[in-house]
Amino acid sequence: MDAMIDLRDLVADDSERLFAWRRQGEVNRWMSDQPPQAWGEHQAAFLAFMADQDRRGWIINRDGQPVGFLSLTGLTNCNRRAEWGWYIADADARGRGVGRAAEALGLDKAFDELGLQKVSAEVFADNEAALKAQAAAGFRREGYLRRHALKDGQFRDVVLLAILAEEWGACRARVRKILASAQLIAA
Ligand SMILES: CC(C)(COP(=O)(O)OP(=O)(O)OC[C@H]1O[C@@H](n2cnc3c(N)ncnc32)[C@H](O)[C@@H]1OP(=O)(O)O)[C@@H](O)C(=O)NCCC(=O)NCCS
Repeated sequence: MDAMIDLRDLVADDSERLFAWRRQGEVNRWMSDQPPQAWGEHQAAFLAFMADQDRRGWIINRDGQPVGFLSLTGLTNCNRRAEWGWYIADADARGRGVGRAAEALGLDKAFDELGLQKVSAEVFADNEAALKAQAAAGFRREGYLRRHALKDGQFRDVVLLAILAEEWGACRARVRKILASAQLIAA
């Protein structure tokens, strides 16, 4: 049986975990910004995040163990549109459907709980896992941004993806059924 996935709200104790996770090579290589190098810098950013009405973050749990992080930014803008950010930090948890399950749970939060009408994401063009996972949930390509991000000395192309509330509504039952039959989420 596969492991069950859930999302839980961030708590103050998650700060150290996020500091370590975000700096891991396999996570950092797919992020367009640079991770904080010093603990103080990270902790200040973490506290600002926790206090910011514009952002929400969740820990992705696999069988109750923290394995990743999911965030939405832009919750207070008048467009009711937020930007998606995520990673699975535990290498053993990647490529097993954890991302797809967390995504379905995160989209429910975005559209049902937070009342957004659109979620967008910027993904490096060679990030196959993220592109596949996001396409599977119904994200559609809205643009291709050439040499859009400078990462580790290289200019990278970025794919702009987005999903509308009604598009998630149309895919939700099918996606959740697949995840429930794989025993990744409750039926
Ligand atoms: C992107 C990420 C969140 C996806 O989560 P995951 O649990 O690894 O992905 P899943 O197991 O749910 O698989 C999603 C899809 O990607 C595919 N996939 C998974 N790992 C892959 C890899 N290394 N290369 C190519 N495809 C891969 C799966 O086959 C699946 O495709 P399918 O639905 O067509 O079968 C995760 O791989 C990750 O955190 N990567 C590093 C950080 C990152 O890239 N974050 C996103 C930045 S935009």
